[in-house]
Amino acid sequence: MSAQRVCISDFEEEARKVLPKAVYDYYRSGADGQHTLADNVAAFNRWCLIPRVLRDVSTVDLSVSVLGQKLSMPVCVGATAMQRMAHPAGETATARACKAVGTAMMLSSWATSTIEEVMSAMTTLPGDSVLFMQLYIYKDRELTLSLVRRAEEAGYKAIFVTVDTPYLGKRLDDVRNRFKMPPHLSMANFSTASLAFSEDDYGDDSGLAVYVANAIEPALSWSDITWLKKHTRLPVIVKGVLNGEDAVQAVNYGVSGILVSNHGARQLDGVPATLDVLEEVVKAVQGRCDVYMDGGVRRGTDVLKALALGAKAVFVGRPVLWGLACQGEKGVVELLQFLKDELRLAMALSGCRSVSEVSRSLVRRVDFSCRM
Ligand code: LAC
Repeated sequence: MSAQRVCISDFEEEARKVLPKAVYDYYRSGADGQHTLADNVAAFNRWCLIPRVLRDVSTVDLSVSVLGQKLSMPVCVGATAMQRMAHPAGETATARACKAVGTAMMLSSWATSTIEEVMSAMTTLPGDSVLFMQLYIYKDRELTLSLVRRAEEAGYKAIFVTVDTPYLGKRLDDVRNRFKMPPHLSMANFSTASLAFSEDDYGDDSGLAVYVANAIEPALSWSDITWLKKHTRLPVIVKGVLNGEDAVQAVNYGVSGILVSNHGARQLDGVPATLDVLEEVVKAVQGRCDVYMDGGVRRGTDVLKALALGAKAVFVGRPVLWGLACQGEKGVVELLQFLKDELRLAMALSGCRSVSEVSRSLVRRVDFSCRM
């Protein structure tokens, strides 16, 4: 029997022991020197909390509305690819876990379960099912639109279009491991081996880098946001914005939201931690659309800091994979519940009774003399 887990980081150590090395390496890796990977987490310690007291925190309401969907907390599950490498039930287990704790899941285009089966896994539990679709724009635009249509028909609530991956970032372990999908799995939303990432040989490189170079649109530009919006009635959110100028562009192109993300530090190494650019984006947007963030969230206090800096909600990626690897659906429920309980405690200890009471004055940039 494994030791009792008491916080999110306990899951990673356990997951590392149970996952095949190439799978663990793929999930864990950042790009190149992995400086941004470490910084995404470290950034949360550059901000401290300035709590208020004597505010009757006998009840704390964590609920929020995200893209018109009522959620039990401002923490959603972000898209991570190929979840059946972590657990046989993969994305269907994650979806059920999200439903059990009352939050939303963003499904990767590169899921090992289909768009439809993830929705039906979620709807087997009572209550509203909230799924968002993460979209890669393929060179083949009809194929891309077929993913959008399938998500619409299945009842997904938004499209998060990834804009930071014209090519795949260089993850050194994936090159060393010549990473490819285990043979019993495939990207389930596609029917040919070349699109389903299930070819036998990708040469000496990361198989996924080869896949992206072959299939994903490197010529993506702002006009493609117009194109996408024209073809869907769902809200479109751009995923992968890291500065105010792009945020203003996104607003001008009519997006419903911006996800401040550096793709889990897996694309361009050396970019800032997402927490450090969040406020710049929030200020640039001036309330014209919602701003979300992902990257490095490991504790309830991290969520609180991101909310104080203007995020409407945060997304968690890798921790969910560790939860899946440890214990499937149960592991993800436990992990999300940790985050929820930690956020509730952090809000209570800060004097915030609801998410609307979390304000900019709650955080202050730490000078290094008092760094924790
Ligand atoms: C990655 C892709 C799947 O980061 O988003 O590996």
